[in-house]
Amino acid sequence: MFPKILNFLPPALVAGILTASGVEPAAPTLRSAYNGSFLIGVALNGRTVSGGNTKAAEIASRQFSSVTPENDMKWQSLHPQPERYDFKAADAYADFAKANQMALIGHTLVWHSQTPQWVFQGDGGQQATREVLLKRMRDHIHAVVGRYKGRVKGWDVVNEALSDGGPDVLRDSPWRRIIGDDFLDQAFRFAKEADPKAELYYNDYGLENERKRSNCVKLLRGMLDRGVPIDGVGTQSHFQLEKPSLDEVEKTIKAFSELGLKVMVTELDVDVLPSRGNPSIADINRREQGDASLDPYVSGLPAEMQQKLAKRYADLFSVYLRNRKSVARVTLWGLDDGQTWLNGFPIRGRTNHPLLIDRDLKPKPAFFSVLGSAKEQRNR
Ligand code: XIL
Repeated sequence: MFPKILNFLPPALVAGILTASGVEPAAPTLRSAYNGSFLIGVALNGRTVSGGNTKAAEIASRQFSSVTPENDMKWQSLHPQPERYDFKAADAYADFAKANQMALIGHTLVWHSQTPQWVFQGDGGQQATREVLLKRMRDHIHAVVGRYKGRVKGWDVVNEALSDGGPDVLRDSPWRRIIGDDFLDQAFRFAKEADPKAELYYNDYGLENERKRSNCVKLLRGMLDRGVPIDGVGTQSHFQLEKPSLDEVEKTIKAFSELGLKVMVTELDVDVLPSRGNPSIADINRREQGDASLDPYVSGLPAEMQQKLAKRYADLFSVYLRNRKSVARVTLWGLDDGQTWLNGFPIRGRTNHPLLIDRDLKPKPAFFSVLGSAKEQRNR
């Protein structure tokens, strides 16, 4: 794509020459490197987008072309009480995305976690009826999707509806127990009514597992057959250094793109800490018992581990780039290691190192390997 002669110039100079505006700093960015392949996104917290961490905000907007609110568009944040919506924190993302020309992703409308108890209760404290819960779901979706109409590119409409084991395809959640299996169809239809132009996604973790992936394909195929308005599927991709295998990662992308859906990697991170549980289960309610042996990198990630992490990211991005016709976006779940949720999950108070940028907001070897993967692909 680039004129050949530019390959001989130092990368910084190449990026400097090629920026249209001429005002961008000369160092190459993820955002420019992946332009033309897929959106490269980041999940941010409220402090970063509302001016409380200007250095992080500056890095995020320079490096990434898409932003997802890490918590501030979840039900408990937007709609803590039946008659009270609070859009202040979420509005800051819409402003941030607009000011920095980033695609805004809405996360998430219908989920079993981070949803207040009242949602599932009737007036007397007993369980809500199907009718009541459906009306609540519709009202919530209309209020939220309606407010950000034209500003949110796509919504994670339903998050984590699939089970991790047992005979049932769907998880035993209050949504399913009260409404029934059609709660997904209903949620997507309500979202479509509220903003016909927004993209609508199903999002889940662990889809690289064969059972869960094939259940997901079944679920999505059924929805498509019933004419449910769904545009894409997000595989969260909370990964470890060795697992899942690249083969499973690629199989997952292909299985979903064969359904005609856009595929998004929505919450990528690579947990480098040891675990005694099942690290592939990213259910935020899962807790593990901790001890010091499970927290070995408190004073920093050794060089050898940095290289392992860099290699893992390079391998993953080579799969994403190879499948760039199907992959619409890759989002990292957090800007830097200081702010990753994996410092608290599934064991509180550990020191994890799963992202591309370290606690001092300096790029790690993994950052350069992701940057390099894009360049390699271009030079082919
Ligand atoms: C996590 C956030 O990163 C944390 O800050 C919060 O305490 C719990 O939720 N899957 C998802 C995300 O879909 O919403 C979760 O985010 C991580 C797992």
